[in-house]
Amino acid sequence: MKGIVLAGGSGTRLRPLTGALSKQLLPVYDKPMIYYPLSVLMLAGIRDIQIISAKDHLEMFRALLGDGSQLGIRLSYAQQEEPHGIAEAFLIGEEHIGDSPVALILGDNVFHGPGFSQLIAQAAARLDGCELFGYPVKDPQRYGVGEIDADGSLLSLVEKPVKPRSNLAVTGLYLYDNDVVDIARRLTPSARGELEITDVNRVYLAQGRARLNPLGRGFAWLDMGTHDSLLQAGQYVQLLEQRQGERIACVEEIALRTGFISPEQCFALGSDLGASSYGDYVREIARRAAAEGRTADSSAA
Ligand code: DAU
Repeated sequence: MKGIVLAGGSGTRLRPLTGALSKQLLPVYDKPMIYYPLSVLMLAGIRDIQIISAKDHLEMFRALLGDGSQLGIRLSYAQQEEPHGIAEAFLIGEEHIGDSPVALILGDNVFHGPGFSQLIAQAAARLDGCELFGYPVKDPQRYGVGEIDADGSLLSLVEKPVKPRSNLAVTGLYLYDNDVVDIARRLTPSARGELEITDVNRVYLAQGRARLNPLGRGFAWLDMGTHDSLLQAGQYVQLLEQRQGERIACVEEIALRTGFISPEQCFALGSDLGASSYGDYVREIARRAAAEGRTADSSAA
C-alpha cells in the first residue's frame, strides 16, 4: 500500500503563524505537526509515501525529512498549485499510487490511542473499496459526517451537514483500493469549488464498498485548524509524554520498532538531534533496542 500525506492548504485560520511557514510544520509540543500523520502511515507498515504541499513549502518539508532513507522509508514530494480539494491528492499522486491501494492522511490530523496500528492493519487487510474512521464529536457540522446502523453498516455520508444525522465525524485517514484514482478523475468541484473527499467516499458508499470504523472512547483524534486546537493538541501530547515518559509520534522510534531501521541507525539519528531532550530519548531507545539485540527488517525495504 502506498501512502500520501496531504500537507497543503493556505492555513488562513492560523495566521500569522502560517505567514512564512507551512501549517503542517508548526510545532505540536516537541515535534513538527507532520510527524503525527507520518507516524500513522509508518505504523501501518507503509514505506512508500508522497508528501503533497504548496510550492513555497515543499523545500521546507524536504529539508526536514529528505528522501526518508534515514527512517528506512521512501519519501517523494509533489506540488498542489492551489487547495482545490482533498480528493485532488489522487490526481497529483496518480503516478506515485500506480496500481496499488493507497492510504491518504491529512497533514493536520493527530490520532492517538490503544490498538490503532492493529486497527489500520485489519482495515487494510480486508480493504475492498474504502475504509474510513469515525470519531464522535460535539460539533459534527464542521466535518464529513457518517451515519451507521446498529450492525455498523454505513448508511449515509454528508459533508458539513447543517442537520447532522449522527455525531460521527469522518476523520482525515482514508484507505482506498486503486479505483480511487478513476473515481477522483470523474469528480466535479462542489459548491465551494473543491474536489471533495466526501464525494469520493459517496461513490464507494453507493457501490456498497465503504466502511466506517468507529474509534472508541479513550481514543484521541485532534485536528489543528485553529490557534486553540493547535495549543490543545500540544498540551495533550505534553501531558501524556511527561506522565508516561514515552513520546507520541516519534518517527525515529517507530522506524526502529517497525524494523525499518537498526538500533545503530536510530542511535545515529539521535546523535544528529543533538542535546535536545528529544535527541536524548531517541538515543536511549536505540541503546535499549541494541541491548535487546534488535535488527532492521531489511527484507521489507
Ligand atoms: O479533518 C477531517 C475533515 O477534513 C473531514 O471530516 C471532512 O470530510 C473533510 O472535507 C475535511 O474537512 P475540512 O473541509 O475542514 O478540511 P480542510 O479544508 O481544513 O483541509 C484539511 C487539511 O487538508 C488542511 O490541513 C489543509 C489540507 N488541504 C486541504 C485542501 C482542501 C490541502 O492540503 N489541500 C486542499 O486542497
